[in-house]
Amino acid sequence: MTTLLTNIGLLATQDAGIGELTDAVVVLDGDRIGWVGPASSAPAADDAVDVGGRAVIPGFVDSHAHLVFSGDRATEFAARMSGQPYAAGGIRTTVAATRAASDEVLRANVARLATEMLQAGITTFECKSGYGLDVPTEERALRIASEFTPETTYLGAHVVPADTPRDAYIDLVCGEMLAAVTPHSKYVDVFCEQGAFDGDETRQILNAGIEAGLIPRVHANQLSEGPGVQLAVELGAASADHCTLLSDTDIDALAGSSTVATLLPLAEFSTRAVYPDARRMIDAGVTVALATDCNPGSAYSTSMPLAIALAVRDLRMTPTEAVYAATATGAQALRRDDVGVIAVGKRANLVVLDAQSYIHLAYRPGVPLISQVWQNGRRVV
Ligand code: NIG
Ligand code: FE
Repeated sequence: MTTLLTNIGLLATQDAGIGELTDAVVVLDGDRIGWVGPASSAPAADDAVDVGGRAVIPGFVDSHAHLVFSGDRATEFAARMSGQPYAAGGIRTTVAATRAASDEVLRANVARLATEMLQAGITTFECKSGYGLDVPTEERALRIASEFTPETTYLGAHVVPADTPRDAYIDLVCGEMLAAVTPHSKYVDVFCEQGAFDGDETRQILNAGIEAGLIPRVHANQLSEGPGVQLAVELGAASADHCTLLSDTDIDALAGSSTVATLLPLAEFSTRAVYPDARRMIDAGVTVALATDCNPGSAYSTSMPLAIALAVRDLRMTPTEAVYAATATGAQALRRDDVGVIAVGKRANLVVLDAQSYIHLAYRPGVPLISQVWQNGRRVV
C-alpha cells in the first residue's frame, strides 16, 4: 500500500541538515518512506492525500520522559509558583503513589500520556522507570513501559527511597534490581545531583548497567553544577540530560564527544529555573537535542511544540535548530537511525502542521498546530 502526500507547501526533511523542499511530495510505502521529491516528478501511488499547502516535518522524537507513575503533584507545583524551591525529594511523593498502584493503573497512565504525545506530534518516545525504587515496582514499571516503546530506561537511581539505607539501596540498584529490569531495558540512567546521587555513586551504577548491556545516559547538572556531564562523556553516554548549569569544562567535554546534550526547557519553565544556554553550547560545537521530560514533578507536559517555542525564545536556538533538535538529534540521543528524518527507507513518521512553515511552532506559541500525525505509514491523528 502506497500513499502520496501531495501539495506540501514546505517539507523540512531534517535529512542532511534542515533539507527544505517547496512544492514537495512524499510517498509512504507501508511503514516506510518510499520516495521524496518535487511534485513534478512524483510516482504513482495507491492513494493520495492533499495536505493543502501545509508544512510537513518528521514526527518528533522525545528522548526523555517519565510516564510510569500514579497521582500528580499539582499542589507542589502551586507551592513552587508561590516561592517554594524545587528539590529532588519531591520524587518520593510519586514513589508512594506508584508503588500502591496496580499494573492496570500504571498501564492506563502510560497509555493516556502516549496518546497525548501523539497528539503533540511525538511518534517516538523514551520512557524511564524511577518512581518504584523497589525491585517489584521498578520491574513492573519497565515491563509496562516496554509494552509502549522499545526506548526504555532503568532509573532505579532516581533518589534513595526513604525506607532503605543508602549503601543497601545502591547495592540493590547495581544487583538484584538491575537483574530484574534488564530484560525490559535499553538504557541505564542516574539522577546525578545534590539530594540524589553523587559522582562516585553515579559512576558505580552506570558501570553496573553497562556491564549488564545497557546504554548509559545521565540526568546531569540540572539543579547544580556537578560531575554528571563529565561522567556522561567519560562513560560514552548516549546523552547528558538537562545540562542547565554548565562550566566551560563541561561544554568542552561535550563538544569533543558523541554524547548528546538533551535540553528540557519544560522543566525550567515548570520549576521557574534559569534556562540552559543552548546558543553557548551549539556555538561551541555541542550536539543539542530537545525533549519534554514529561513527569508529574518538574515538567508535567507532553508539548514538544511548547518545548520548541521555549528553546527559541529562551534558550536562543533558531527555529531551524530547535526543530532539528526535536527530531533528528532526538533520534541520535536514542541511537536510532530509522526515525527523526524524512528520507527513503526511514519510518513513515510525519507531522503535518497547520501552518506554512515550522517557524510557526515558535512564532505561534500555545496554538494547536498539529494538523495530522502519521506513524509507521498510518494516519493516527
Ligand atoms: O527529569 N530530575 C529528575 N527527575 C525528573 C523529575 C522527577 C520529579 O520531580 O518527579 C526530571 O526533572
Ligand atoms: Fe527527567
